[in-house]
Amino acid sequence: MSLLAEPDSSAVTVRAAAKINLYLGVGRAREDGFHPLETVYQAIGLYDDVTVTDAPEWSVHTAADAGIDLAAVPDGDANIAVRAGRALTAHHDLGLTARIQIHKGIPVAGGMAGGSADAAATLVALDRLWGLETSDDDLLAIAARLGSDVPFALIGGTALGSGRGELVTPVADATELWWVVVPHPVGLPTPGVYRHFDVLAERGAIVATEPRVPPDLLDALAAGESEALGPLLANDLAAPAYDLRPDLSELRGRLEAVGSDAVLLSGSGPTHLMLFDDVERARAAAADLIEADIVHWLAPGPVAGCHVIDLL
Ligand code: C5P
Repeated sequence: MSLLAEPDSSAVTVRAAAKINLYLGVGRAREDGFHPLETVYQAIGLYDDVTVTDAPEWSVHTAADAGIDLAAVPDGDANIAVRAGRALTAHHDLGLTARIQIHKGIPVAGGMAGGSADAAATLVALDRLWGLETSDDDLLAIAARLGSDVPFALIGGTALGSGRGELVTPVADATELWWVVVPHPVGLPTPGVYRHFDVLAERGAIVATEPRVPPDLLDALAAGESEALGPLLANDLAAPAYDLRPDLSELRGRLEAVGSDAVLLSGSGPTHLMLFDDVERARAAAADLIEADIVHWLAPGPVAGCHVIDLL
């Protein structure tokens, strides 16, 4: 039997959403340097679109929505989307190559797993382009090897994450949330924030206990109690991120003054999130941010994981 079923099309575009962490509990570094996590992921409505076409060699080309800086997006093999393509062809023992075109709507180095979204979308797009019919379990395993957030980018919605973040289980979520997303022009690379978490833990400035998602958060999500969520959100990477970047604390203060159900640092930062349980309140806050000249986007959550949006 050939793995190469009749190709469906000559170009496939897959959409992948940004992730946020409603709760991010982090423990002390493991032997392998990664940190044990318990997290609640949510996919929200900012998207990267990845288009793949057959080509004689691997290449990656990037474009972006206004307000997104592409300077930090790596080229060639350093780009996780190319690594995803190579991992998929290696899994099937195929010598195929493709051109990968990424249109970014997710901030780069923003703590919203944009690179992971691109990797996940590339896996799904190439699988469809070449008719590989890779099983979900195999896609999730390939995704986990590419990066801790890549499996969640495949499934989207709201999910519990454990291990180093790569073990994902969907959770019941009856809420309809609105997030005002406030990017920052200066990115914050994730490894440095985790390293600083260890520095602060060694100094005794933070106490790193075994991470545990509060059951009340999962109950509130399942019951659709959006108004109860605010005080239940937390991020253990906030302390090291603000310690590294005091300018972010100042921005946070300005966002808190606008008013919302919660202000949260997204993952390792520097993007901030303002939570609303109602779109009218979110729009009113967005209007205040326009007045204050603070760049932002409005995004619903939860939204779907990777899905095909165009076939040519
Ligand atoms: O898994 P991923 O490649 O996305 O992780 C990027 C970096 O973030 C890792 O190299 C590591 O420094 C840090 N990290 C960590 N613990 C995790 C996830 C990521 O220390 N659970």
